[in-house]
Amino acid sequence: MVDYDRAEELKAFDNTKAGVKGLVDAGIVHIPEIFVTPSIKKNEFNAQNLDSCSNVNVQIPVIDLEDINKDDFRRRRIVEEVGEACETWGFFQVVNHGVPQHIMDEMIRGVRSFNEQPNETKMEFYSRDDMKKVFFNSNFDLYQSKAADWRDTLACLMAPNPPSSDELPEICREELLQYSEYVRKLGQTILELLAEALGLKSNHLLEMECAKGHFILSHYYPPCPEPDRTNGTTKHTDPDFFTILLQDHIGGLQFYHQNQWIDIHPMTGALVINLGDLLQLLSNDKFKSAEHRVLANHIGPRISVACFFATYLQPFDRLYGPIKELLSNENPPLYKETTVRNYVSYYNSKGLGARPSLLDFRL
Ligand code: OGA
Ligand code: NI
Repeated sequence: MVDYDRAEELKAFDNTKAGVKGLVDAGIVHIPEIFVTPSIKKNEFNAQNLDSCSNVNVQIPVIDLEDINKDDFRRRRIVEEVGEACETWGFFQVVNHGVPQHIMDEMIRGVRSFNEQPNETKMEFYSRDDMKKVFFNSNFDLYQSKAADWRDTLACLMAPNPPSSDELPEICREELLQYSEYVRKLGQTILELLAEALGLKSNHLLEMECAKGHFILSHYYPPCPEPDRTNGTTKHTDPDFFTILLQDHIGGLQFYHQNQWIDIHPMTGALVINLGDLLQLLSNDKFKSAEHRVLANHIGPRISVACFFATYLQPFDRLYGPIKELLSNENPPLYKETTVRNYVSYYNSKGLGARPSLLDFRL
């Protein structure tokens, strides 16, 4: 197992700038060693590893946002559902969220076109410079993680200070700009609901600038010849306030709850919302940032678009810690304050699958 030079193989893979899709296009039938994850347990029950058991009966709530501003009663009901989902699961889906179906379909198609265009054009975006606003690569944590994931990603920092339109890949530029605008608006609505669910005034989290920035990670998971030996995305929590995720019909997204992996079944028209580490920190553990992962699959490509609400590595100095209004003698602060940039850079330096970064910000 160790008689190969992992560092050299990582470099060689990275230098192709063709990502995982490049391997699949080359017709490989075995996944390269750098992708092999020693102990992946999928859905089979395994008494030695309770981690691996998955409960098909549990489903995260689907919250209907229709008529959210119609009357106080309707809104309070929605806020209750959101609060319960955030305290129990850290995950929920929303429908009637205001992002039109055709905008979501076009976004997925745009990501597909970007990845399936000729390599020469795509390679121009290939970079590991995470200070760039737009870059494409495979495995942001290629050199940190224990095993690489079966996934390529286009990252676009859309707010604040968006890239100029000609910095975005032409082949999916319109799709990104449109989707970004709709998802920004939905993000504000979600943030109001989250604030209300914490018992704060509606604009509390908005005023704290939790929706000041968002970045869009468009993932492309090529079909995998040996899906039992690697991951699509290794288990992790998200280093943001919350994430709005659009996934296609393939499936494979799971989150971890009470020693079980729970499937988040694709649902046409729905968007998945999950809380990130920074909201767990702000809420002083009232809300959960749940671990999740994506299984690799024989079938593909699978496409997903994750919109992270946070300013990423942009140089803003605002400090975030447990919200004062939520604290009391019985509920003292559990976390130190941090800037978003400090948190994200710490998280990125460790890569997916490491000890959860949030633990290192506990007092
Ligand atoms: C992520 C993520 C899930 C998916 O980008 O952090 O968890 O379905 N993505 O791609
Ligand atoms: Ni995630």
